Amino acid sequence: MKIIMLGAPGAGKGTQAKKIAAKYSIPHISTGDIFRANIKNGTELGNKAKGYMDKGLLVPDELTVDLVVDRIGQDDCANGYVLDGFPRTIPQAEALTNALNELGAKIDYAIDVDVPDENIVNRMSGRRACVDCGATYHLKYAPVKTEGVCDTCGGGLILRDDDRPETVQNRLTVYHDQTQPLIEYYDTMGVLKRVDGTIDMQDVFQAIVDILGA
Ligand code: AP5
Ligand code: MG
Repeated sequence: MKIIMLGAPGAGKGTQAKKIAAKYSIPHISTGDIFRANIKNGTELGNKAKGYMDKGLLVPDELTVDLVVDRIGQDDCANGYVLDGFPRTIPQAEALTNALNELGAKIDYAIDVDVPDENIVNRMSGRRACVDCGATYHLKYAPVKTEGVCDTCGGGLILRDDDRPETVQNRLTVYHDQTQPLIEYYDTMGVLKRVDGTIDMQDVFQAIVDILGA
């Protein structure tokens, strides 16, 4: 099963993608997580990506597409995957479609997690991410058991650099300009499914399972 998660920054793509990956035993591939790991490790890719990410801008397609095409060609992707944060532009979507066409494959579902802008800034300011394993929490909606400590690995928790309100506004503008057109792209392809992302995260997941099958 090949799945794409669509939705604004903070809509809950990562939250839902992790649950999908666990339930259907397929890899969760987040370009944002890949870039953040590269930044943490001080790689050349990380250094290039950081300047764009901190401003809330997209990392250029030429740094992103080959990375994903290479990743989905790996053995663990043979039974499918859930892509989170890719594609994010029409050229990225076209590159993905072409790469899959060459393999005689196609995307099965593009799930749009729909959350209006007014809910987003609020959500992002409450998000906390683990510096070590990248697990995501929320001060109010997904709290940790011990304050400031990751439930999974015991690492420290931070507010992501790009989750400051002024940067979130930029990310929303970029989303509407460059990423939202993908909803129509995948609708035309006949694979678009929409879920309401404003409800409780377990109920969002149930709506997704209803689409994908138990
Ligand atoms: P990326 O890491 O993909 O960030 P994003 O798309 O902006 O999305 P987020 O990760 O911020 O939000 P999410 O939808 O995953 O929400 P989450 O589940 O965490 O990208 C970061 C940057 O990298 C980009 O800005 C860009 O620069 C670059 N980049 C990445 N991919 C790229 C690409 N393909 N091309 C170019 N550049 C790229 O949830 C958010 C919070 O809300 C959490 O605290 C969560 O606990 C909470 N929450 C989730 N669901 C609910 C719910 N139902 N109710 C209440 N709270 C909820
Ligand atoms: Mg995410």
